[in-house]
Amino acid sequence: MKFKDRVCVVTGGANGIGLCISKEFAKSGAKLAVIDKDKAAGEKVLAELRSNGAECLFFPGDIAEKGVLVSFVEEVIKTFNKVDYLINNACMSNNGILSGCDYDDFNYVLKVGVTAPYMLSKLFCEHFTKDAAIVNISSTRALMSQADTESYTAAKGGISALTHALAVSLAGKVRVNSVSPGWIDVAANFDENFDKKHSEKDKNQHPVKRIGKPLDIARTVMFLCETDSGFITGQNIIVDGGMTKLMVYNGDEGWEYNNH
Ligand SMILES: NC(=O)c1ccc[n+]([C@@H]2O[C@H](COP(=O)([O-])OP(=O)(O)OC[C@H]3O[C@@H](n4cnc5c(N)ncnc54)[C@H](O)[C@@H]3O)[C@@H](O)[C@H]2O)c1
Repeated sequence: MKFKDRVCVVTGGANGIGLCISKEFAKSGAKLAVIDKDKAAGEKVLAELRSNGAECLFFPGDIAEKGVLVSFVEEVIKTFNKVDYLINNACMSNNGILSGCDYDDFNYVLKVGVTAPYMLSKLFCEHFTKDAAIVNISSTRALMSQADTESYTAAKGGISALTHALAVSLAGKVRVNSVSPGWIDVAANFDENFDKKHSEKDKNQHPVKRIGKPLDIARTVMFLCETDSGFITGQNIIVDGGMTKLMVYNGDEGWEYNNH
């Protein structure tokens, strides 16, 4: 029970990677505070975690709204009186310049992906315990792009930079790191055979020869939160099966450049 009685806050903890992070922390003895706009999924998670003996809180709401963040933080502190780990996981995309992503669409993604993580760090600041840690979920898309991804990519660039800025500002109080997942198939949360659904080509483009699963990310997040990781702050760990390390020139690895 590595995280016994530690309080872990997870944004977007009702589905996907956030769900896996919430469950893994709960299994390790932590108390959970989950915020998610998906009320039905959040209530399901709450019931499951409680039935497994975990103490937890679910707060339905959109983290793009300041009032929601303020109320959530009040509720967490009223319930648990402290925070050990803040996992800024929730994000989404409104695509980009080629498909008409406009001012409000773009700003919404930045609010979810960058402003909310900043505000939660600020609002929880005085409640963090000794040995506390913030882990931000970024993406390999902070470093490279496909076309028409500006809203998401900008949010991921933002949260990556926010990570080292906060690590310096909160030095001596809270360690702040990020994890950048590559392709993670969230279906793996419910299907042990998820990998069988992927083509050999999809798997083989990863040096580890498989697609990622939420547990790959949850384990890295937990590693960064451990007190034994106390010498690590301001860092980003890429968890992508090596995909961003595979240098591809036209003609390499059976790839052909076909966009002129
Ligand atoms: N899955 C991947 O391949 C992948 C790759 C790189 C990075 N990531 C990052 O990992 C994180 C989790 O991704 P995922 O694939 O699990 O996504 P997901 O869509 O499966 O789950 C995201 C969760 O966040 C919640 N959420 C989204 N916007 C919200 C808002 N405004 N307010 C409250 N809750 C909100 C959703 O309801 C959902 O429960 C994200 O930051 C994502 O950018 C995922």
